[in-house]
Amino acid sequence: MVNTQMRSKMITALQWYADQGVDGCVVDNAINKLTFKPEESLPSPVYEKLHQNIMEQARNTVEALPDRTFLGKAEACEEALRLAMQADSLEALAQAIKNFEGIALKKTAGNMVFSAGNPKARIMLVGEAPEAEEDRQGLPFVGESGQLLDRILGCIDISRNENDPQKSIYISNILNWRPPGNRTPSPAEIEVSLPFIERHIQLVKPKVLILCGGVAAKALLGQDKSISKLRNCWHDYVPVTRGLGDDVEPIPAIATYHPSYLLRTPRQKKLVWADMLALQNFCQKNLEH
Ligand code: URA
Repeated sequence: MVNTQMRSKMITALQWYADQGVDGCVVDNAINKLTFKPEESLPSPVYEKLHQNIMEQARNTVEALPDRTFLGKAEACEEALRLAMQADSLEALAQAIKNFEGIALKKTAGNMVFSAGNPKARIMLVGEAPEAEEDRQGLPFVGESGQLLDRILGCIDISRNENDPQKSIYISNILNWRPPGNRTPSPAEIEVSLPFIERHIQLVKPKVLILCGGVAAKALLGQDKSISKLRNCWHDYVPVTRGLGDDVEPIPAIATYHPSYLLRTPRQKKLVWADMLALQNFCQKNLEH
């Protein structure tokens, strides 16, 4: 018998599954949906057994959930914002992200990827999400696209390994966990991750932001335009997440193509080169007195 509390937990669990895009149950054997007639093909005890198994699995899943598991997107976003706002240092923020149970990617990823580079740098770059190598090492942009990024930044004399804030960069991503198979993050995953990256930016207080790729640019500028429309101009970045503070100084932000895209489309490198020169020019004019 399922009591009211269990029933309500199961309904919330189903809601969570639906929010993650799970819209059906998988059984052990494939069923031909064109010919399947449950009443005729399955004697009712078999059907009942199947139902019992599914209910048992659901119960086990619910019981295995830690106490503070967030089962709906709205609840997860609220908790993400609460935790992000509580974090008053980068260490506290990294710990908050690690403890947060409201993003299913945490279960499939190998390591959390928080940041790399110099937190005192005047430039902060935000990418999309870790890929396989980043997931293995727990560091952003260390795979093939990261190596290209380092070469691009090197052309304007910027490096993640520099101590001098004028020559260094601090790097993070919208998502801290790798989406399986490097798929594009879902809108729900981006939404629930935004309070963390926006708090991350608030704590680092960069003088300039590089939004690397369409996902980062759209998410942090709150705009639904393509990266080709968002690049080639300066934006004033202010937090998109409501509740992160209204009284914030806008940060100049430039959007550019993602190095993964450049690996597939090298002819666009000249546009990124133009973006880097615009960045260098901006820094020389506005940040070096
Ligand atoms: N792509 C990203 O957007 N971020 C990484 O850290 C690696 C690849």
